[in-house]
Amino acid sequence: MAKNKDSQTGAGENSMWGGRFASGPDAIMEEINASIGFDQKLYAQDISGSRAHAQMLHDQGILSSADRDSIDQGLRKILSEIESGTFEFSRALEDIHMNVENRLAELIGPAAGRLHTARSRNDQVALDFRMWVRDQADAAALALEKFIAALLDKAEVHADTVMPGFTHLQTAQPVTFGHHCLAYVEMMARDLSRFRDARERMNECPLGAAALAGTGFNIDRHATAQALGFREPTRNSLDSVSDRDFALEFLSAASICATHLTRLAEEIVIWSTPQFNFIQLSDKFSTGSSIMPQKKNPDAAELVRGKGARVVGSLVGLLTVMKGLPLTYSKDMQEDKEGVFDAAETLELCLAAMTGMISDMTVNEDSMAAAAGSGYSTATDLADWLVREAGIPFRDAHHVTGRAVALAESKGCELAELPLPQLQELHPEITDAVYDVLTVQASVASRTSFGGTAPSSVRAQIAYWRDNRH
Ligand code: ARG
Repeated sequence: MAKNKDSQTGAGENSMWGGRFASGPDAIMEEINASIGFDQKLYAQDISGSRAHAQMLHDQGILSSADRDSIDQGLRKILSEIESGTFEFSRALEDIHMNVENRLAELIGPAAGRLHTARSRNDQVALDFRMWVRDQADAAALALEKFIAALLDKAEVHADTVMPGFTHLQTAQPVTFGHHCLAYVEMMARDLSRFRDARERMNECPLGAAALAGTGFNIDRHATAQALGFREPTRNSLDSVSDRDFALEFLSAASICATHLTRLAEEIVIWSTPQFNFIQLSDKFSTGSSIMPQKKNPDAAELVRGKGARVVGSLVGLLTVMKGLPLTYSKDMQEDKEGVFDAAETLELCLAAMTGMISDMTVNEDSMAAAAGSGYSTATDLADWLVREAGIPFRDAHHVTGRAVALAESKGCELAELPLPQLQELHPEITDAVYDVLTVQASVASRTSFGGTAPSSVRAQIAYWRDNRH
């Protein structure tokens, strides 16, 4: 759909607003002013909006049936021209709105000029962009649902698979891999609710706000709002043409989501190193090295980690465009689109890549289990046992356990390998029973508190999400 007809038209007086202009724009003016290079993405929304507007004008007695019919036919023809790639976009016509309207005039003649009655490009672009973002919020929600489903499937398979849990990227306590996957389910579910929530808030129709002040024509804004799938029309015409919160909220939700994905991406990069060897990415989601035959690189994960920056950059970009803008529309706001287009595309790609990586990865249960037991990961279990069984205060138990860890470290063994007499030298009330809690499996199984890492708790969390997700 990227044809260009400027070579034929040249820069002349603008037929849309040229009435008071003696000459056409300077070439640089045309270049800085044009948005057709990117806002042609909004063609379907622009045409739907115009069709609904024409129908409403007709129903309100502002447009004749004959004009309504030829406008509608012309718009449908333009839609098919754009979709089949035969439409010729012109930079001299600035943006998608004027490209469509100009083509409509070519197709149906003077009746085309009646379409813009009681409307301005200001409410038109606010409408088109809002509908585009609304679709993207739905697309993001769908992609998130798929990703959540993939994470839940992994969590279910690995409800009992032990791995080290980390703080400061130092081994902290054993957890299950299923539990770890479910931490991401929580994040993604919050992301999903942010997109749904933003969609609900943006679902008000700005069409009919006209340039900024509303219109004297007897339009029916409720009718166009309903025809275009909006809950209701926006209430304030000034706000309607100057508000881009819908885009900012979309970018905020996208940025938080993309940031979550970078965390998992980073973990995948770490887990797939030969040093960790916790997982293996499938061949479908890794690449080789052109020089080092042994290598299998997690490029997709690294790219998700890197691409998060683009999404956050788009949010900061639009916040900065909007900052300090006086009411109502200013041309600065034409800079609102490209970052949102890029962020939406990037997020969808990242979610799809993550879904694929998670679904296809192999979990090396033995490596995870070995790592889960090293680094004195059950030290807290020893301290807890001293509190529970020997009745000593936690701070003292912490101290005794610290000495046990130091002892094991000096002997180069694990806590569970320390002989009972040596443990009893540290505290006389320690008995044989302590060894039951020093294993990784016992440690994990004991953490049955609500939201804890015990396999039973992991299964309860999975059941919760399977029931409540939709
Ligand atoms: N291309 C413009 C944009 O994206 C459309 C609105 C133009 N409005 C105006 N008053 N010049 O913002």
